[in-house]
Amino acid sequence: MAEQTRTPHTRTASYLAERGEVARVLLLYSGGLDTSVMLKWIQDEYEAEVVALTINLGQPGEDYDVVRGKALALGAVAAEVVDAREEFARDFIVPAIKANAIYGLAYPLFTALGRPLIAKMAVDYARRHGCDTVAHGCTGKGNDQVRIEATVATLGPELKVIAPVRGWQMGREEEIAYARQHGIPIKGGAEHTPYSIDDNLWGRSSEGRWIEQLDHAPEDDVFQLVTRPEEAPDEPQVVTVGFERGVPVALDGERLELVELLERAGEIGCRHGVGIVDHIEDRIVGLKVRDIYEVPAAAIILTAHAELERLVGTIHQNQFKSDLDRKWAYLVYAGLWWEPLRSDLDAYMDAVNAQVTGEVALKLYKGSARAVRRSSPNAIYDPALATFAESGGLFSQQASPGFIELWSLQSRMAWRVRHEEEG
Ligand code: ARG
Repeated sequence: MAEQTRTPHTRTASYLAERGEVARVLLLYSGGLDTSVMLKWIQDEYEAEVVALTINLGQPGEDYDVVRGKALALGAVAAEVVDAREEFARDFIVPAIKANAIYGLAYPLFTALGRPLIAKMAVDYARRHGCDTVAHGCTGKGNDQVRIEATVATLGPELKVIAPVRGWQMGREEEIAYARQHGIPIKGGAEHTPYSIDDNLWGRSSEGRWIEQLDHAPEDDVFQLVTRPEEAPDEPQVVTVGFERGVPVALDGERLELVELLERAGEIGCRHGVGIVDHIEDRIVGLKVRDIYEVPAAAIILTAHAELERLVGTIHQNQFKSDLDRKWAYLVYAGLWWEPLRSDLDAYMDAVNAQVTGEVALKLYKGSARAVRRSSPNAIYDPALATFAESGGLFSQQASPGFIELWSLQSRMAWRVRHEEEG
């Protein structure tokens, strides 16, 4: 009955694939359970060929030969592994650094920055391999589906998308059963439910299990990257980050390529327990979710960058930019990397960052990273002016009372008017 009164099936979005349209699928393949089950399931359900694409954004400890072999063993007609760390660092992390990009006061956006690149590469490789459809392993509850599908629909309008996890209604148990039935190896075994992890050069997130209980304090085993602060060395370490035009170029005076610099900063941060974040986050699809983040590199580089930027900017630039920084982070968080407002904002970020050259030294100690030294040829700072001693010249203390009288004029008048009203 209900079936007959319902309107004929229509797609909820123009870019979603209907069954008959799918002949060759580009699958964004991580090697994990979801996308491995998917690799097989797409072949069976759609009678389609699958090309697997795995992208290295600097996930620590991943063995890409194993991932590639697994994809081929599960029937992929081709399996590509691409090292995109450099592009990720240069075209995604650097703009984020220039924008001091933090969402919700705590999250440096590593996943949000990675997704538009991953999806852009999916479009490229789909075209190269003659695929008509892109498949990904995101659920219907997260931000990642938004970021990936918005990107594919923008850059590859001729391509369709399927997101099997969103529709297949298999829980972890069913997926494990399916994997067993089809001889799909389960990484780490099937006994315990793992955290849901996403990681790259710029950080790592853990979700699921006890993290979903807001009153449950972090268990030690969630920290697979950063040393817990209570176990970090008793001796602090000072690390100096050198910047040129807003781009980090050196650590402790040694010039490094970007990827290596970020990796090294991450290692140093890990050692000192830096960059642990326990975050309640407003997702773009409406949910509030808790994430545990480990962001050692971002904690060092973003802290140093913001410090240097404040030193070279005027009070007006500094106040104005933080509003734009917040807007930039929100657009990127919300999956709108390709939105022109983002590149408009980048033009401003670049203009300000043209002055952000110099060095900031941070003292790392048991989880904290605190600026202890700064220097820049562009600092709007003159110790002769700032000193408590009389400086003369540009700064006349005798002029201050006149300034105060005019600066406070409207506020004083308003105070008087309001208080006279009150009687
Ligand atoms: N909450 C973060 C974000 O939306 C991290 C998401 C991690 N993604 C994942 N598939 N585990 O960007």
